[in-house]
Amino acid sequence: MSAFDAIASRNKWNQRHGGRELGTPACEVLQTHLSLLPAQGRALDLACGLGRNAILLAQHGLQCDAMDISDVALARLASYANEHNLSINTLCTDIERDGIGDQQYDVIVVSYFLYRPLLNAINLALKLGGLLFYQTFVRSASATNLNKAQTKLGNPDFYLAENELQAQFNDLEIRYYHETVPDQLSDTAAVAMLVASKTTPH
Ligand SMILES: C[S@@+](CC[C@H](N)C(=O)[O-])C[C@H]1O[C@@H](n2cnc3c(N)ncnc32)[C@H](O)[C@@H]1O
Repeated sequence: MSAFDAIASRNKWNQRHGGRELGTPACEVLQTHLSLLPAQGRALDLACGLGRNAILLAQHGLQCDAMDISDVALARLASYANEHNLSINTLCTDIERDGIGDQQYDVIVVSYFLYRPLLNAINLALKLGGLLFYQTFVRSASATNLNKAQTKLGNPDFYLAENELQAQFNDLEIRYYHETVPDQLSDTAAVAMLVASKTTPH
């Protein structure tokens, strides 16, 4: 992304995150697999926004890095974490330009963010034995012509193809994989949900 695009993206997300509610429920795939989380260790909520996943991870006892391009979202999250005594370290980074750093984590959560060139770095950032939770939109071939939600979302770079998420992480051990079906009545897009663990070095 060019410097100009990065500023535009930060401004767009700052505006969105300025008015949104903080402390909403974490993404479904994390909520439904909480029993897999270790009791302690280091976690990363990547492209965290207002940090709904980071909050849950920290409440669970993990030391959590929360990374996003939006300084407004991160300032709100840091203040919430401080108020609630949660171990959340906010990191303001353009991850498309600068990557995710060289830290390693026991748990990584990504929800509703897709930048394919980063997927290998996400894999590398998982410790051996570490767990990845990933949930984001899928472009469902069978429903594309039928479902408004599929077309409303715009840029195909931001959608997974069907079954792509598990293929992208096929050297991890897939513990859970599910793709929802788009619901035309509620205008809901399809999402893929993955839980995977690193059982061999990458
Ligand atoms: C749809 S929101 C999802 C937020 C959060 N993961 C959640 O599920 O609530 C996408 C997030 O990606 C962040 N983002 C977009 N481009 C980014 C970039 N280049 N670097 C870091 N964060 C970025 C936005 O600021 C936004 O918070």
